[in-house]
Amino acid sequence: MPVRGQGPAGFEAVGSVAVRTFAAHQSHQISGLTQTAHQSMDGHHVNAMAGDGSGAPHNQFADYDELPDGHFYDPDAEYEPDPEYAATLAPDAARQRRERIGPTGRPLPYFPIPGPLTDHGPAKIIAMCNQKGGVGKTTSTINLGAALAEYGRRVLLVDFDPQGALSVGLGVNPMELDLTVYNLLMERGMSADEVLLKTAVPNMDLLPSNIDLSAAEVQLVSEVARESTLQRALKPLLPDYDFIVIDCQPSLGLLTVNALTAAHKVIVPLECEFFALRGVALLTETIEKVQERLNPELELDGILATMYDSRTVHSREVLARVVEAFDDHVYHTVIGRTVRFPETTVAGEPITTYASNSVGAAAYRQLAREVLARCHAE
Ligand SMILES: Nc1ncnc2c1ncn2[C@@H]1O[C@H](COP(=O)(O)OP(=O)(O)OP(=O)(O)O)[C@@H](O)[C@H]1O
Ligand SMILES: [Mg+2]
Repeated sequence: MPVRGQGPAGFEAVGSVAVRTFAAHQSHQISGLTQTAHQSMDGHHVNAMAGDGSGAPHNQFADYDELPDGHFYDPDAEYEPDPEYAATLAPDAARQRRERIGPTGRPLPYFPIPGPLTDHGPAKIIAMCNQKGGVGKTTSTINLGAALAEYGRRVLLVDFDPQGALSVGLGVNPMELDLTVYNLLMERGMSADEVLLKTAVPNMDLLPSNIDLSAAEVQLVSEVARESTLQRALKPLLPDYDFIVIDCQPSLGLLTVNALTAAHKVIVPLECEFFALRGVALLTETIEKVQERLNPELELDGILATMYDSRTVHSREVLARVVEAFDDHVYHTVIGRTVRFPETTVAGEPITTYASNSVGAAAYRQLAREVLARCHAE
């Protein structure tokens, strides 16, 4: 690779990001050509690029020369560059740096590092909700929670999916559990302390679940005030935490309605792919119904774009459409696609501890700061 051989080590990494990004464009759009130009997202030429026929471009990336090590995505975060991943977030790093344009195409505000808290609670309850499967609800619950906990917030994560993926992602084997959130919901006199588990992350606790919870969906139907069962169960915990994050199952059934009834805010993770917006209308309708009938405090805090890969036109188009449709409701923070997330599930810990210096960890820390900034703005 014709990356600059001299200069500080970080510059080499920057060079390699540029080369990798361009190499990706080259293979998609211009294979076979020896002379071409790269167009940025907004259509203007940012760099001329010449190939030598071998597929490897020469070093002509003047715009990238001054970029300091790792300053691609969040210039305020300190992390080691992970070139493959950084490239998914910033195809045009030079412009992003000049104008501080975030991946959503809007100017990226500065989200300050939150100060320490002297006292805790009452908790804000966030439901992580999308009836579409595999969009990053569980991943976002674990990592947003862990990032908030790193900033000194007391966090409780509620596994509200009978599949128990949140519990697994935190290293708990759901099959071995005697007491779960099911018991808390269905058994009178059961206290949350009996069900709570401490996680390996300081300041972060877990209400685990397993397949037992699927029975609750059926059993709750005949209960009085069945939609507010979780709300009642969480009430005694509010003073102990700053944030309670509920990982919903991929459905709009009674369990999800319980989560929405208990929550103050909803975060909707959306995978940046073609069918992302399908079903979102049904979800916002459900949120509005719960708002009207059960929980007037509920509001949509934000849409979180996940699994974004700016190297594909498709991902960029989907993100642009999401921003068009939801405007300020879309978080400035965008989560890129990286294999580090599936790895963390196997490891049973959040990315903030598993790969603390990765760009994925930095993205969830930025999301935590953005969520906190929105809370303070209220
Ligand atoms: N940013 C990402 N990049 C790459 N893979 C990701 C990313 N986020 C999540 N994944 C992976 O995608 C899969 C689905 O993610 P996750 O379990 O968080 O989604 P979910 O919405 O909770 O799914 P379900 O609806 O089944 O509960 C997991 O294997 C996860 O590791
Ligand atoms: Mg899940």
